[in-house]
Amino acid sequence: MRLNGFKRKSKMAIKSEYRSSYCGNVTPNNVGQKVTVAGWVHRRRDHGGVIFIDLRDHTGIVQLVFNPTTYPALDHAHTLRSEFVISVVGTVTKRSDATINKNMATGEIEIVADSLTVINKSLPLPFNVADEDENISEELRLTYRYLDLRTSRMQDTLRLRHNMIHVMRNYLHELEFCDIETPILSKSTPGGARDYLVPSRLNPGKFYALPQSPQIYKQLLMVGGMNKYYQIARCFRDEALRADRQPEFTQLDIEMAFTDEKNVREVIEGLMAALWEKFFGKKLALPLNVFEYKDVYDKYGSDKPDLRFDLPIQNITTLFESTTLKFLQSTLKNGGQIGALCIKDYAFSRAELESWVSRTIKEFGGSGMLYIRFDEDGKPNSPVASFLPEDFLTQAQKVVPGITAKDTLFIVAGDYNKSWLTLGKLRTNLGHELKLIDKSQDHLFWVTRFPLFEYDEETKNWVSCHHPFTSPEVGSDLSKPGGITARSYDLVWNGYEIGGGSIRIHDDKIQEQMFTLLGIGKEEAEQKFGFLLNAFKLGCPPHGGIALGIDRLIMMFAKISNIRDTIAFPKNQSGICMMMEAPTPVEAQQLRDLQIRSTYVAPEEK
Ligand code: AMO
Repeated sequence: MRLNGFKRKSKMAIKSEYRSSYCGNVTPNNVGQKVTVAGWVHRRRDHGGVIFIDLRDHTGIVQLVFNPTTYPALDHAHTLRSEFVISVVGTVTKRSDATINKNMATGEIEIVADSLTVINKSLPLPFNVADEDENISEELRLTYRYLDLRTSRMQDTLRLRHNMIHVMRNYLHELEFCDIETPILSKSTPGGARDYLVPSRLNPGKFYALPQSPQIYKQLLMVGGMNKYYQIARCFRDEALRADRQPEFTQLDIEMAFTDEKNVREVIEGLMAALWEKFFGKKLALPLNVFEYKDVYDKYGSDKPDLRFDLPIQNITTLFESTTLKFLQSTLKNGGQIGALCIKDYAFSRAELESWVSRTIKEFGGSGMLYIRFDEDGKPNSPVASFLPEDFLTQAQKVVPGITAKDTLFIVAGDYNKSWLTLGKLRTNLGHELKLIDKSQDHLFWVTRFPLFEYDEETKNWVSCHHPFTSPEVGSDLSKPGGITARSYDLVWNGYEIGGGSIRIHDDKIQEQMFTLLGIGKEEAEQKFGFLLNAFKLGCPPHGGIALGIDRLIMMFAKISNIRDTIAFPKNQSGICMMMEAPTPVEAQQLRDLQIRSTYVAPEEK
């Protein structure tokens, strides 16, 4: 199905010396008319004396015919090659029934050319734009991004991106949100990802930071009485990259004064419904489900589970209460838990099972994975079968509803949080690889009541699960950080975190307490966040908001799995712009101006 956002035809009539019509707009209604079209040579076919050119512009492709009767200078047409930029005058002609191309929007007509202007030539191409070949390496496509942008894949996605942002702006404008820009040269603050730093020439030795999000600014806009703010905001985070992460990405950033969780959810649900209707042509059933973090984590080992397939985690700790298996005994003794995924009716080979074990260790962070399958007579068949009772299946049926001898258990034991995280990753990968996912479904829902803090074993500090400005649940006991839930919420869609936000702290005393709990001393808090704490003392309204990841939203609506394909000029997995080859070293003088000396020595110079 083509999304509505991909519409190519244009209603605009832009006449210039180069064209009177767009390629995709020429229809059988124009038969007999003289038109001028311009664009790129998409394909060229030479049929012994008659030359056919598929001419492409942003609206589509139209066929041009150069034949010696109407266009005697055929030699000129012979010089055309792929991606030459041309302008052609000709007569719109109906194709004969035998030559109609049903796969082409303009396939019922062709333009019989009587004049050709070659506006610009092209050297032989590094890859063929016409050939939407998935096998062209991404490296090559990113190096020649301007060529890749000519493909219908990129044209469609960028147009969808534009149209989606247009819907967002209209929707928020109708709700009286105000679009306000916030600075890009900002201040480095602790927490979150690493900052991208910008040295200040005028203030030697000092650095701006590029904003990881406009979080503090939007809160200050609320203190500034702005009521409802939004921004299509560029964010910068120096963090490990993944298929759904870019170092610079775009958020639909929202903040509201005198608001609460339900209010924020309703605004976003209305927006998602508007996008759904416009681009999927369907109604989105509202209100969306709201799940609590602890419940989704317990069932799926993730805070963003893909619910297009079942396969919940089963807590089978009780099944092993009197086990003779040493490692499970010690797990239980240390207060650990045992979780399992029950894969229904799938005949794994031994090699497949071993590969899932090794992937659990290498990719999913587990220290091991135990599998148990069953012989036809129901006896357990597993590397640890000799430690299991013969009636293990019957016993398992009490804790794993509906398990049969055709099923396989994947078991991970240990600390609850860690093993459930591993099981969650295992579940997602099994879902994809065993094709358990029903791709015709969409599961969009909220996850709320996250823990306010998590404990970082490495630094022995509490860190915010969301950010330090998120309000604890009303009545929380801040002396017990581990048990506090946050007034935060994430929007999750088919296994992706599409957005996240919270109701904020608006009381300077609580905000100060938060900094203390996060190991930010009074002096540091004053130095880094003094402006915010002061603002909170000068009449701060209660407020809250959310940010949606626009690039991820486009991925979801365009049904693509690579975030780079939603962005005109993305960075690769190493944060490099392949086209410009940024980042680059800079001139020594530039560094001197900034009073910066680099200590970096390239490996080849060591
Ligand atoms: P958060 O950090 O959860 O919240 O970000 C909000 C949303 O932005 C998207 N996102 C990303 N997309 C692409 N590449 C990245 N590196 C990346 N990081 C995040 C995700 C995510 O859900 N200031 C808060 C929002 C708030 O509290 O209002 C914030 O930035 O879709």
